[in-house]
Amino acid sequence: MYVASLYGAFLVGVAVAQQPAPAFEPIDFNVTKALRDLEIHIEDIPALENFLEVERRALDDESRACQAACAAIQSLYGSGTVYDQGEANYDNFTGSYWSGEQQNVSPRCIFKPSKATEVSAVVLLSRLTQCPFAAKSGGHAAMAGASSIQGGITISFANLNGISLNGDKSIASVGAGNIWGEVFESLATSDRTVVGGRLFNIGVGGLTTGGGISYFSPRYGWACDNVESFDVVTASGILVRASAQEFPDLYWALRGGGNNFGLVVNFHLKTIPLPQGQIWGGQKTYLEADFRGLDEAFAHAATSAAQDVDAGLYVVYVYAGGRKLGLPVLYHADVGAGARSPVWAGFHNNNMTAVGDTTRPRLLTEWAAETMHDSPNGKRQLFYTLSTKADVEMATFARRRFFDTVVAAVGDVPGIGPNIVFQAIGTPQLEQMRKNGGNPLGLDPEGGPVYIMLLAASWERREDDARVTAYLSDLLREIKAEAVARGSFVDYVYMNYASEYQDVVSSYGAANKAKMKSIAERYDPAQVFQKLQPGYFKLDRAPTPGTDYYNI
Ligand SMILES: Cc1cc2nc3c(=O)[nH]c(=O)nc-3n(C[C@H](O)[C@H](O)[C@H](O)COP(=O)(O)OP(=O)(O)OC[C@H]3O[C@@H](n4cnc5c(N)ncnc54)[C@H](O)[C@@H]3O)c2cc1C
Ligand SMILES: *[C@@H]1O[C@H](CO)[C@@H](O)[C@H](O)[C@H]1NC(C)=O
Ligand SMILES: *[C@@H]1O[C@H](CO)[C@@H](O)[C@H](O)[C@H]1NC(C)=O
Ligand SMILES: *[C@@H]1O[C@H](CO)[C@@H](O)[C@H](O)[C@H]1NC(C)=O
Repeated sequence: MYVASLYGAFLVGVAVAQQPAPAFEPIDFNVTKALRDLEIHIEDIPALENFLEVERRALDDESRACQAACAAIQSLYGSGTVYDQGEANYDNFTGSYWSGEQQNVSPRCIFKPSKATEVSAVVLLSRLTQCPFAAKSGGHAAMAGASSIQGGITISFANLNGISLNGDKSIASVGAGNIWGEVFESLATSDRTVVGGRLFNIGVGGLTTGGGISYFSPRYGWACDNVESFDVVTASGILVRASAQEFPDLYWALRGGGNNFGLVVNFHLKTIPLPQGQIWGGQKTYLEADFRGLDEAFAHAATSAAQDVDAGLYVVYVYAGGRKLGLPVLYHADVGAGARSPVWAGFHNNNMTAVGDTTRPRLLTEWAAETMHDSPNGKRQLFYTLSTKADVEMATFARRRFFDTVVAAVGDVPGIGPNIVFQAIGTPQLEQMRKNGGNPLGLDPEGGPVYIMLLAASWERREDDARVTAYLSDLLREIKAEAVARGSFVDYVYMNYASEYQDVVSSYGAANKAKMKSIAERYDPAQVFQKLQPGYFKLDRAPTPGTDYYNI
């Protein structure tokens, strides 16, 4: 069995995992001892004096616990790696999140580990002090608390930013702090790429652990399905490499299970060829008279995906500046063949006239950077999602109800930018989810193809949050009712598009959820990633459960 042995002292502890027995962490796990194995002696750290005897018992006061944890990290790794409230670096960091909701979260401190052992140390120090934590890769999750934590330790992976290719260029090893654009740029010099995000500054960490729809997904499946192995720090602070061969249960769970199983420090990604770094793609613009034709062209592409597994698309219907626009984004991995793909047949319908069309050969990195400008940092943001079978009438229903209601409901909200996006997941793409022992998402190729709808909005003021949320929530309820009535509803909630009110893991199906929970029980019996890392989609609940908002 291979165990990434960055720290020799851990090999003894890791021997437990070699037994078929389910335990990974011993029942008498001793945090102080585990820290000592990392050469951290808590009795030498003045900030931890209150924790010498009350090991694993919380201080009454979380803020004192976090003060101690942050001071301990600072004394171990130096003030350059820890930002405190009031520092310019701290404000710069909180300003780096995409959504205003996440920017407004104020951690007790921000820690930027640059080695896996430092990630292990912070997990153990959190356990020792009971100060909660969150972890940030690209910071593009919209909801508060996803990758930053009020009063706790926000771990930034920014300094875990290595990108390297193995000898035969088949695997790219990518640190958890990378954003996709930088990964693409680095690999382009070798005429390779990976199945990653479509926008430059989306993080490798969140996108991959939640699924990951890529320009290359029609042929290769989602980002998570193309991970060869994960280097992951578990709740006991042990670094393991999870792959189809080693810790295969953990490998399975990490491919869509989100932040529930550990902190991935390094993703080993299977590469694909991309000569000259080029793909074909762009956006067409249609006006209202062509919207039904666009729904039909989209449905044709979704259902004929097997005719060309290099082609993919999504359609954005947007209400912007008082205008209604239909904006299909078409992409093709074979730059020379993209324009002629048979799956675009519906777009050649004579009735339809694109008033804008930017499809052309493109450098992947340039396109990723260009599209980024549509999504600036700092606005209030809401993502909300629902899935259906590929069904033209569902797209038409959802699109019509969106445009029928949007102006009255939120048209006067300052800065409002609402849209409904349809993402086509063709059957070949779903079949790729069976690779490497499958993933936990519960999407069945027999039930394909699928539409994943993203209802999204951005706006300016916090006081409009409830209004915008209620609007999208009501709209989703209506769309779901129609989908159920048509027999088109697919009980799958895509983590990367989900709102904080949605219970993502339940949507993976009862069997997958039970399996995920038993895997978490094995690697994290103390429920560190459920309780001490409370943000984002947990195994048993939505991030914000118990509201009246649409929650399935
Ligand atoms: C403008 C925009 C474009 C997008 N485009 C796409 C797209 O093309 N395809 C697609 O599938 N999705 C897309 N998304 C959705 C995107 O996948 C999610 O928002 C995702 O969560 C972003 O990842 P991140 O690392 O940037 O986020 P973060 O906020 O940093 O992380 C999200 C969650 O993942 C956890 N996490 C991050 N890194 C790790 C790690 N190393 N180990 C364990 N847990 C970790 C965090 O703790 C957090 O809970 C897009 C989103 C936006 C805003
Ligand atoms: C945990 O380990 C430390 C250091 O080895 C030891 O001093 C302490 O007694 C242990 N605690 C328990 C409860 O065994
Ligand atoms: C943070 O600082 C860097 C340069 O030091 C700057 O480029 C970046 O725009 C700053 N980010 C924010 C959010 O202030
Ligand atoms: C194309 O135009 C004809 C005649 O105007 C109309 O009957 C038909 O519904 C249109 N088709 C689409 C897809 O818009």
